[in-house]
Amino acid sequence: MENPKREQWSSKMGFILAAAGSAIGLGNIWKFPYIAGENGGAAFLFIYLICILSIGLPVLIAEVLIGRTTQRNPVGAFKKLTNNKFWSYVGKMGIITAFIILSFYSVVAGWAIGYIVESAKGAFQSFKEPAQAGEYFNSLLLQPEWNLFYLLVFILMSMFFVYFGVQKGIEKGSKIMMPLLFILLIILMIRGITLEGANEGLKFFFHPEWSKITSQTILLALGHAFFTLSLGMGVIMTYGSYMSNNDSIPGTSLSIIILDTVISVVAGVMIFTTVFAFGQDPAQGPGLIFHVIPVVFNQMPGGIFFAILFFILLALAALTSSISLIEVVVAYFVDEKKWKRQKAVIFTGVVGTLLAIPCSLSYNLMSEVKLFDSNFFDTLDFLASNILLPLGGFLLAIFVGYVWGLDKAVENLKIGSEKFFEKYPVSLFLWKIFIKYLAPLLMFFVLLDTVGILKVVKNLFVE
Ligand code: PHE
Repeated sequence: MENPKREQWSSKMGFILAAAGSAIGLGNIWKFPYIAGENGGAAFLFIYLICILSIGLPVLIAEVLIGRTTQRNPVGAFKKLTNNKFWSYVGKMGIITAFIILSFYSVVAGWAIGYIVESAKGAFQSFKEPAQAGEYFNSLLLQPEWNLFYLLVFILMSMFFVYFGVQKGIEKGSKIMMPLLFILLIILMIRGITLEGANEGLKFFFHPEWSKITSQTILLALGHAFFTLSLGMGVIMTYGSYMSNNDSIPGTSLSIIILDTVISVVAGVMIFTTVFAFGQDPAQGPGLIFHVIPVVFNQMPGGIFFAILFFILLALAALTSSISLIEVVVAYFVDEKKWKRQKAVIFTGVVGTLLAIPCSLSYNLMSEVKLFDSNFFDTLDFLASNILLPLGGFLLAIFVGYVWGLDKAVENLKIGSEKFFEKYPVSLFLWKIFIKYLAPLLMFFVLLDTVGILKVVKNLFVE
């Protein structure tokens, strides 16, 4: 039962930009520099790159492949390739993960939009110390209306793009927003590098401190590889389902990975050069951007302008990611339940908002409400990023290697990639080894660690 009306990207570039748009987000601009900074700088970068290449790339290729082969959303895709019901539950896990990520992601993205307005109002002009900016940030967090308002603005903006469909909405939006994002980031990075004292930041970010590498660092790098590439929950599968058979999957996947990694590194350089030039502490966790950036920009010529640019950039990056989260859910309802796209968008937006509300209230009205020892926001973040995504990625690799089978996978992978594999014959061999053996094994260890089993085993040996 083919769906004759299923849309496709208008070009290979359309797919690459949309998928890169999903990958590049708050994870790159805020999270990556911060965890790299806390975990040995260049040493972390090195391990992160290994994770991206050894697990990120093979899993990314597998996800695009399943999407393109089946032309379906995650649930429909598994249904088409196997009769075993278990796998459609794996697909459904992706749909649920999308709602969960959407909820806490929209809260942070809402802060970014709120900060565009605050910067434009000149709210930060009198700040000399990050402590002042920190206090200001915390005072905003305490206002439920402020949080809820911008959260809603962000979700409505995301819904707007998905509402208009694949080509007219997502692709067009990404084609305008992604290049703008690159340009803005490059401007801000140059601004950072040319500040006096920027070298300290470069040293911090690029000087490897191997002693800081622990097993925890490796697991952190691996987990972040999933989050930053939007892997393990079906976003990339759904975007792959709109891809044409003429395009090469390994080639496009490589482009997506390179774009995502370059943006993370550029963001790292921008943030650390600026933070160090102004003698600020780089290890401030979730508050880093919102505590430090207003002060940092305030202390330089044209500061208001650069602060506004920065928060626009952050909001845009988050927007192209949340669009992809909504699209997965919408594709599911459109394909499987035969809903109209518009109805699916509205439903997803409403449910997403309902889930996002307690996340945003986690910092004010509901700060006392604890789920598993953390507030609502942190619990959902942990559940999605550290459990559901690696689990989804692990199951996907198992599916390709052992359920669908490498023979069928390779047969489909070769479509559109004939030239690529002629040019780089070893790449196919490597992909098979990694997707069937190495990637699942490594991911298995992350999952064991996350649920605490590795610690128990380690303790047994220590005692
Ligand atoms: N990759 C996005 C980021 O780095 C987050 C994301 C995860 C988006 C999973 C979609 C799916 O910000």
